[in-house]
Amino acid sequence: MSAERAEGGAGHVAAAAADDDGAGREPGSLRADGVTAGYGGDPVIRSVSVRSDPGRVVSVVGPNGSGKSTLLKALIGILRITQGQVSVGDRDVTNLAPEDMARAGVGYVPQIDDVFAPLTVRENLEMGGYLLSRHEIADRVEHVLAVFPKLGSMLRRPAGKLSGGERKMLAMGRVLMLRPAVFLLDEPTANLAPTIARSLLEEQVTRLAAQGAAVLIVEQRARAVLAVSDYTYVMGGGELRMSGSPAELSASPAFVSSFLGGHRN
Ligand SMILES: Nc1ncnc2c1ncn2[C@@H]1O[C@H](COP(=O)(O)OP(=O)(O)OP(=O)(O)O)[C@@H](O)[C@H]1O
Ligand SMILES: [Mg+2]
Repeated sequence: MSAERAEGGAGHVAAAAADDDGAGREPGSLRADGVTAGYGGDPVIRSVSVRSDPGRVVSVVGPNGSGKSTLLKALIGILRITQGQVSVGDRDVTNLAPEDMARAGVGYVPQIDDVFAPLTVRENLEMGGYLLSRHEIADRVEHVLAVFPKLGSMLRRPAGKLSGGERKMLAMGRVLMLRPAVFLLDEPTANLAPTIARSLLEEQVTRLAAQGAAVLIVEQRARAVLAVSDYTYVMGGGELRMSGSPAELSASPAFVSSFLGGHRN
C-alpha cells in the first residue's frame, strides 16, 4: 500500500522508510529479503521481506497457521532459510545458529517455552546473560529492573508461579539481558486477558523500542498491536499479503473485514 497516507504521523515516516532499498543500512536495523523456509518438506513461508529499524515497533499479523512463527524461527536461525537473506545493519546473518544470532544482537522471545519455570526470576535473568561475565550480569540485571521495575519485587519467585503477563515481562527481560539491537517477539499476548495484553503492548513492548531496539512483533490481536506499531505486515498462507502503516491498513476494507471486523482486540 502506498497511496492515501492521509493520516500521516509516525506511521507515515515508517512507511516511507520501508520503501528504500536498504543501501547504507542503519546499524541495528533488521532486514529480511525474500526469505523462504520450512520444516524440511515444501516451504512454509515463501519470499517474505520485512524490516524494522531502531526505535520502531513493526508488527506481523495474520491468521493461525499463516507462517508468522515460522518466519521468526527462520530469522533467528532455528529453521534453515533456503532462499533469501537476513541482515542486521550491514552484516549478513542468514542462517547463523541461534547463539551466533544472539551475539549478532538479535533477541528472540518464543511463543511458548519462554522462561525456565523451576528457576527464580533472578536466575532466569542471569541465564539470559549467558554470554556475559559475572560482573556484566549483575549490571545488566539492574538495567533490566530499571526497564521493567515490576520484576524487582519478584526476584525470588519461581517463574512458574508468575501470572501470564508477569511471565511475558520476564521473558522479555531475560532477552534484554544481552542488550539486543533487534527483538523478535512471537505473540507475547497469547493467553493473556485483553486488558493485560493491551498494557503489555502499550507499556513493555513500546519500552523495548524506546530503549533503541528494532522490534519485530508477531500478533493475532491486530487492533491492539496496530495501536503500538509504526508499520505492519500481513501474512496469509505463508506469504505477505499486504503491508502499511496502521492508518493505511485501517483504511483498507480488505484488512478491516479480515482483521478488525470481529472481536480480535
Ligand atoms: N514443526 C513443524 N513441522 C512441520 N510443520 C509445521 C511445524 N510447525 C508449524 N508447521 C506448519 O507451518 C505452518 C505455519 O505455522 P506457524 O506456526 O508458522 O503459523 P502461525 O502463523 O505462527 O500460527 P499461530 O497464529 O497459530 O501461532 C502451519 O501449516 C503449520 O502446520
Ligand atoms: Mg505462531
